[in-house]
Amino acid sequence: MASLQELKQQFLADIGRCSTAADVEAARVKYLGRKGLLTEQMKLIGTLSPDERKAFGRDLNELKNFIGDEIASKGTSLKGQELKKKLATESIDVTLPGSFTPYGSEHPISQTLNEIIDIFTRMGFGVEEGPEVELDHYNFEALNIPKDHPARDMQDTFYISDDSVLRTHTSPVQIRVMEKKKPPLRFIAPGKVYRHDADVSHTPMFHQVEGLMVDTDISFSHLKGVLEEFLHRMFGPDVPVRFRPSFFPFTEPSAEVDIGCKFCGSSVDGACRVCKDTEWIEILGAGMVNPRVFEMAGVDPEKYSGFAFGMGVERIAMLKYSIDDLRLFFENDLRFLRQF
Ligand code: DAH
Repeated sequence: MASLQELKQQFLADIGRCSTAADVEAARVKYLGRKGLLTEQMKLIGTLSPDERKAFGRDLNELKNFIGDEIASKGTSLKGQELKKKLATESIDVTLPGSFTPYGSEHPISQTLNEIIDIFTRMGFGVEEGPEVELDHYNFEALNIPKDHPARDMQDTFYISDDSVLRTHTSPVQIRVMEKKKPPLRFIAPGKVYRHDADVSHTPMFHQVEGLMVDTDISFSHLKGVLEEFLHRMFGPDVPVRFRPSFFPFTEPSAEVDIGCKFCGSSVDGACRVCKDTEWIEILGAGMVNPRVFEMAGVDPEKYSGFAFGMGVERIAMLKYSIDDLRLFFENDLRFLRQF
């Protein structure tokens, strides 16, 4: 009996010293834990006579409840104090200015390219890619551009070796896809192309989007319909579109497509620098796939017909965003890029 009194005193001293919730938990383990001091006392019960056992059991139980209650209330109050302290020291001053996170923007060329891809994929076109280092065969020969064609001039083409070049256009992707897949075909091929001329209106690298549609009954009216629809979605439903006869070795007949100049009338002296007062701006090349090209790509020209087109992305971006200097796209001047 004396030892229970002593235990109680010891506990009261211990709990009095507790200053954190962790201290209280340690006290709980010390007295009520599986190997705790009160649990030890329980084991003594077996050694007592039945009379002693009853009184001791009752006192022990009382002490156990007392300790349990003390621990619970001390724990709760310490936890409350700790939370208060934490809230006081970790307070947030909502009147302080926020921190600025700088974010980038998509390059206008990427934006234009994505818009072109978006319009064509909605019309059911897939997207294909080809290598930028291309074999002479795909870049020229298979597109019906013979060895003596002016487009092969060293001035235009970067040669990697005798039979490989940096592709000068995205048209070789037409051949690569026709060799791989059977018609019907309907895809665009966006990508970088390279040419040796660099001046105010040319850069050695620029972007093109090629297009090809092949099936058993494709006619020039399909070409017109698809390209008019594209240009109207790209430049607005009211933009005038015109088709002019032209020549490309890989298409027959061929056409160049112009849109009405929207810069006309904006200059002070009345003369338009962009279209040189012709009121039209050339926007893409197109035509019906030359049967020679079909043959070289392993497609039967008796059974299939198709149309192809190619456009310059920088040129479209310049018209779309009224940018008058091609070099702005490549200088990476943040003052320019931030506007997009
Ligand atoms: N490859 C031509 C160029 O780079 C553009 C072109 C014209 C592509 C007519 C075509 C086409 O597919 O049919 O100038």
